[in-house]
Amino acid sequence: MNRTIRLVGMLLFALGLATMFLDRAQPAPAAQAVSSADAATRIAALESLIPDQAHIMADVGEHFANLWFAGEAENWPLADFYLSETQSHLRWAVRRIPIRKDNAGREINLNNILQAFENSELKTLKRTVSEKHRPRFEQAYRNSLTICYACHKAADKPFLRPGIPQAPASPIMNFDPHAQWPG
Ligand code: HEC
Repeated sequence: MNRTIRLVGMLLFALGLATMFLDRAQPAPAAQAVSSADAATRIAALESLIPDQAHIMADVGEHFANLWFAGEAENWPLADFYLSETQSHLRWAVRRIPIRKDNAGREINLNNILQAFENSELKTLKRTVSEKHRPRFEQAYRNSLTICYACHKAADKPFLRPGIPQAPASPIMNFDPHAQWPG
């Protein structure tokens, strides 16, 4: 799924460059008017290709689920990787839609909630990973789920209730820190 998102990103970048060059290649004013209408259409088409917030959040769910199993296996470099992925995808999700409405129609600033999360439990979680301390990691992970859910409730999605995962989200990944194969 990450690869798809990266491919879409590269495609958007390439199309963006192509659009810039096409626009520069049309100096006549009439042609420019047509090309700006074209550009608006093209931008709308490109926007429809960007993953939506729920899609990005589904990635957050996968990375965060894998993080649990990496921590349980005490595979700390892998845990560090999944925690960083969680954080970068949370930021991307919030950039995608920064303001949402609560059930009373009030605006909720998701960025503020994420910043509070980053400065509290996500920071603690990072520390437990670098200290390689499994019991503290488990506690910080549970506390983090409470904050995940607090944001879902604030965004009027109380039915999105995350929990301790039952199975890793990436069955192909070997979580054993002592694995010898592929060598
Ligand atoms: C800053 C707010 C915020 C935080 C923090 C947050 N989420 Fe979300 N999450 C959302 C919103 C908003 C949606 C719904 C997006 C939509 O419906 O378009 C969502 C949706 C989801 C979904 C459903 C995606 C799908 O379509 O299947 C999952 C899974 C999820 N979040 C996991 C998490 C996890 C795990 C965490 C904590 C590590 C977390 N979220 C933290 C705002 C947040």
